[in-house]
Amino acid sequence: VVTLLGLPPVIGHRGAALVAPENTLASFRQAALLGARMVEFDVRLSADGRPVVFHDDTLDRTSNGSGPVAAASLAELKRLDAGGWFSPQFSGEAIPTLDEVLALCLDLGIAANIELKPERGREVETAETALACALRSWPPGIAPPLVSSFSRRCLAAAGRTAAAAWPRGLLVGRIPADWHGAANALGCHALHADQRRLSAPAVAQLRAAGLTVLAYTVNDPHRAERLWAMGVTSIFSDFPMVGQKN
Ligand code: G3P
Ligand code: MG
Repeated sequence: VVTLLGLPPVIGHRGAALVAPENTLASFRQAALLGARMVEFDVRLSADGRPVVFHDDTLDRTSNGSGPVAAASLAELKRLDAGGWFSPQFSGEAIPTLDEVLALCLDLGIAANIELKPERGREVETAETALACALRSWPPGIAPPLVSSFSRRCLAAAGRTAAAAWPRGLLVGRIPADWHGAANALGCHALHADQRRLSAPAVAQLRAAGLTVLAYTVNDPHRAERLWAMGVTSIFSDFPMVGQKN
């Protein structure tokens, strides 16, 4: 039986994106130093089908490269600097592969939330490739990563892989009218919603249906307290020390 028990109140968003370049190994180390027990990161495929950890569709904002991530091979991505844009202190930080991030999480003893970010048309390939890679990296005895996506196709495909028993979360901005049916159909135990769209009655309704509710992105400690009081289990924070509640 899949369980989401054990989720911490604070999850490091892209590591600790406020104090280190998002989605780099430095960012995940920083999250662990701040006391985070779990980190969230974004996974997409390179041109040669390798799962890498990077948020945007394009390289421009958070690296010294340009153009679509999906148009660059892993070798090309590995030549880029994903830290210098944030601060010179981090220049030389690489774009990590999913393997590298999972190995670091295991090393640091922190849990992982793999957010699948597929290119349009590559939803099934992204889920299958990333989860096959994660299954090879993650030892069976350790609580498995939480797999989330805005893409329903991706989540459905995840449910057909050998990682089908890993917990899944449906990512949404506004809570969709069909949230209940969608979560059931996709085998999702959690709903990860934009914190600005959450109210006490909405959270109560989701929880009454048996869903665990997570909220992104919360960097204000007062808002974090409000959300926990509403029944939100975990918040994603760029500074995962919010509320000192790790
Ligand atoms: O997974 C929570 C949050 O990261 C979803 O939005 O755009 O930051 O990946 P985004
Ligand atoms: Mg994300």
